[in-house]
Amino acid sequence: MNILRINTKSKKYNIYIGHNLIAKFNKIIKKEKISFKKSLVIVDKNVPKKFLKKIYSSFRCERKLTFFFNSSEKNKNFNYVNSILEILFKNNFSRNDVIICLGGGISGDVAGFAASIYKRGLKFINIPSTLLSQVDSSIGGKTGVNNKFGKNLIGSFYQPDLVISDTLLLQSLPRREIICGYAEILKHSLIKNKKFFLFLDKNLKNILNLKNKFITKAIIESCKIKKQIIEKDEKETNLRKTLNLGHTFGHAYEATLNYSKKLNHGEAVLYGIFSAAQFSNKFNFLNNNDYKLLISHLSNLGIFDLNKFFSKKHLNRIISFMVSDKKNNSKKINLIILKKIGKVNISNQFYPEKVKKFINSNLFK
Ligand code: GLY
Repeated sequence: MNILRINTKSKKYNIYIGHNLIAKFNKIIKKEKISFKKSLVIVDKNVPKKFLKKIYSSFRCERKLTFFFNSSEKNKNFNYVNSILEILFKNNFSRNDVIICLGGGISGDVAGFAASIYKRGLKFINIPSTLLSQVDSSIGGKTGVNNKFGKNLIGSFYQPDLVISDTLLLQSLPRREIICGYAEILKHSLIKNKKFFLFLDKNLKNILNLKNKFITKAIIESCKIKKQIIEKDEKETNLRKTLNLGHTFGHAYEATLNYSKKLNHGEAVLYGIFSAAQFSNKFNFLNNNDYKLLISHLSNLGIFDLNKFFSKKHLNRIISFMVSDKKNNSKKINLIILKKIGKVNISNQFYPEKVKKFINSNLFK
């Protein structure tokens, strides 16, 4: 069992990383001195019931409630938050009681947001069940829901009291879901740690096949990088923006395809990293050696070019999504630029025409 301490200005908490930790849930909360009388477990319907049973049988409290959440971007909305709040009110939960979330990133965002606004905040334990949520969304306290104006536009920064990342939960996930989380692990290595990238490159197969020693190391190292960033910039005023590497392109790709199942979020991020690397190399930010290393790594993941999904007729749509990216506040396009593997530039802005010309000539071959 590995423990990573997160020290943010608003809260200090531990992330436990290991195999079959849910069976030790009671032991962990005792060790963490987290006590409560009532608990509401918000569980993603996709999580096998045996995992929920394992957690349930491992702890006792006065009142245990469950809310099954059919997680999807469509259901990530205020109505579901309201349903959760109503359960808490009807059962007279106090701020000393707890919401426990067992699910992926969407469930964690909804549960965390409900926890943050109920009586201005009750205890929140997150048990992320997907690789993406274990390496990314469960760390750093971003919570929130979508509305008709866009994704994650309503929300809060609310750090959990405890995160339990159990690699046992990953075993029921389809391969595409593993790749989705892997995209963020790779991104973290590119932002901060070349040695870690070389580890990923050497052990890609073992990691994607969830070999325990390898997947555990990949999760820990990835979390350590995110920890360093969010501890310095919890509210995303500057440094945390580096976590957007590959995401300006990636979000535009998934939005252009109307978030179709043809290209899931993680795949879009991998294509986004591919595009950001090509862009960085073409405009002489990124040296050829590191560029080749990364492109070869991406090709081992099946990421080559964008012809499979897009043609030139999509160009204007892609560019307009890049300009209207919610993290963008000018008419230019903000791109996190790769300087070398392990180092990025935050503050580069480019005219849409330049990015359009680049996509047109480089990515549609
Ligand atoms: N997923 C990016 C962040 O937490 O800031």
